[in-house]
Amino acid sequence: MNIPKLQVALDHSNVADAIRAAVAVGNEVDIVEAGTVLMLEVGSEVVRTLRTLFPNKTIVADTKCADAGTTIARNCKAQGADTMTCICCAELATMKAAAKEIDHIQVELYGEWTYQQAQSWKDAGIDQVVYHQSRDALLSGVTWGEKDLNKVKKLIDMGFKVSVTGGLTIDTIDLFKGVNVYTFIAGRAITEAENPAQAARALKDRMIELWSE
Ligand code: 5RP
Repeated sequence: MNIPKLQVALDHSNVADAIRAAVAVGNEVDIVEAGTVLMLEVGSEVVRTLRTLFPNKTIVADTKCADAGTTIARNCKAQGADTMTCICCAELATMKAAAKEIDHIQVELYGEWTYQQAQSWKDAGIDQVVYHQSRDALLSGVTWGEKDLNKVKKLIDMGFKVSVTGGLTIDTIDLFKGVNVYTFIAGRAITEAENPAQAARALKDRMIELWSE
C-alpha cells in the first residue's frame, strides 16, 4: 500500500499570509492547494505565484466549481494549476467541460451524493474524489468516524483515488490506518500551528509510520 500524499490547503484571506505559509511548508508537503477561501478572496492569480514558487509541485486550485466549467478550468490552467475541484452537485456536463481544459479534475464530496453519481463521474474518466467533512459541520459537532471510513473504502473499491479532508489533525488520520487513502489534505492543522513546517513534517512522519506497518 502506498504512503498517502500530504497536501496543504492555504485558506488564508490575503495573499501575503498565504504565500508566507506556502514558503514555510511547501517543501514539506507533496501538493500545494490554493484553498477555496483564498481563491474567493483574492482570485486565481494566487495560483500563478504558487506555480512560480513551486515549479515542480502539483498545484491544486480548490475552486469547488459548480458551473462554467470551461472558463474556470481554462483560467486555472492559464495560472499554472495542474488540477481543480468541482463540487459533487455540479452537472456532469460541467465536470466534463472542465476536464477538457485542465490536466485533471477532482470531485469534492459534500452533503448528499450517491454512488450512482460517483459511477457516472468514473465513467466520464474522473479518477479522483475528495471526501470532505465540512468545516461548518465539524464546528457544529460532527466528528470523523466509522461512517466516513466506510464511504472512503467504498469509493476506493470503486477505483477512485480518494483524498480525505476537513479539520484533520495528527490524531484523526489514525482512523484511516490500513486504508488506501491517496492524499490527506490539511489546512489549519499546518498553517495555524506555532511551527507550520514542523506540523507538516509531523503529519508526514505519522503517515509514513502508520502506512509502513
Ligand atoms: C474548506 C476546505 C479546506 O481547504 C479543507 O477542509 C482543509 O482545511 P482544514 O484542514 O483547515 O479543514 O476545502 O472548504
